[in-house]
Amino acid sequence: MTLDTRTDALTAAEIVELSLRHTLFDWTAQENARPIAVDHAKGVEFFTVDGKRYLDFNSQLWSVNIGHGDPRVVEAIRAQAERLPYISPFHTTEVRARLGAKLAELLPGDMEKVFFTLGGAEANENALRMARLVTGRHKILARYRSYHGSTGGVISLTGDPRRWPNEPAMSGVVHVLDPYHGTARPQDDAETALRYLEETIELEGPGTIAAFFLETITGTNGVLIPPDGYLQGVRELCDRHGILMVCDEVMCGFGRTGKWFAVDHWNVVPDLMTMAKGLTSSYVPLGAVAMRPHVAEHFRDHVYWGGLTYNSHPLALAAALATIGVYEEDGLIEHSAAMGEVMRRHHEELRSRHPSVGLVRSIGLFGVLELVRNRSTMEPMAPFNGTSDEMKAISAFLNDRGLFTMVRMNGIMTNPPLCITEEQLAEGFGILDEALALADEGVSA
Ligand SMILES: Cc1ncc(COP(=O)(O)O)c(C=O)c1O
Repeated sequence: MTLDTRTDALTAAEIVELSLRHTLFDWTAQENARPIAVDHAKGVEFFTVDGKRYLDFNSQLWSVNIGHGDPRVVEAIRAQAERLPYISPFHTTEVRARLGAKLAELLPGDMEKVFFTLGGAEANENALRMARLVTGRHKILARYRSYHGSTGGVISLTGDPRRWPNEPAMSGVVHVLDPYHGTARPQDDAETALRYLEETIELEGPGTIAAFFLETITGTNGVLIPPDGYLQGVRELCDRHGILMVCDEVMCGFGRTGKWFAVDHWNVVPDLMTMAKGLTSSYVPLGAVAMRPHVAEHFRDHVYWGGLTYNSHPLALAAALATIGVYEEDGLIEHSAAMGEVMRRHHEELRSRHPSVGLVRSIGLFGVLELVRNRSTMEPMAPFNGTSDEMKAISAFLNDRGLFTMVRMNGIMTNPPLCITEEQLAEGFGILDEALALADEGVSA
């Protein structure tokens, strides 16, 4: 197809055809990619080029936390673009000063310094580098049910199957089991999980371990909420052995759980904390690593051997500052907690109505339904790292009915933008209620 950009807009079919021909899509064999040509989005809805409306029940990639198309953020980006769209990170800007100071106000405990990156993976890459430079140690502990990004170092930390085709991985990464073990086994309590972790640390050699990376609440691997006492215990173990605790809040930060940061639920302050997604609500790519003073202090008289052309990109920082303004002005963190209670009731109701709903988990507007074939054996509706006819049928049904969310293995995600209303939640859960009838047919007892 030859393209004249000066003529009329492309049709949806042309957009999809050209995109598939000339651009590569993530995490898929290209012949299986089925992109939707999206035209615009507002609040909790987005609209295709063909005019179909979708209710966004996953904030895209758990990231458009304030909702789509907020004019306050768009205007901040525009104003910054007009004034200064880019300057080298060796210089500084008013927006950098303001955002740094604002984050210091919001960050847990005594954290007051950040390093800006382009997204979550780079935030974790830099946290990894910092941990090694500060401790002089090499090994990193991470968990199996985790995702930390797709770049070279952090895909090695990632525990889930997205790591497998990317191996051989970076050396020195040791994976540990999570407290959660799937639908068929109960979650470990904090004491059991910590005993296992401590034994691993002892056997690996505490003096060789730079950091323990963990998603405070695990995201794509199933909204795994740690048992009470676990994070405090990890903090204590890390302190005892001089290991830096690195919390990945790329997905669970910025109000997703009903607090600014997920660690705030347990009053734990990690040594390093990474963020992205909700930081700008994805209007512009941005990530950050926050650090405690003892980490920052190391780099006072030691070189920080890392850098990025787009560190502190003014457009992204302006978007972040305006996004934080929206969270505050609209009370979205509190709203997430309140709507989280509404969502919890919907989860419970679906569980009581549908034999296929085995487990429900949520905290704030971070939620998942886990489907099972049988409530006695708790056999999942799709195997680990696989799918099933029922899960595929649910995906197709939701797409048909204009409910956008992620269906992964046996899980259906429920993670709408934080500005969602009770009525919009009811609409989404109404569609899920209908979809679950398809799963109930696959229930064996
Ligand atoms: C917990 C977590 N960490 C890191 C990342 C990687 O972020 P990005 O895709 O911005 O590189 C993600 C992305 O989904 C994530 O969920």
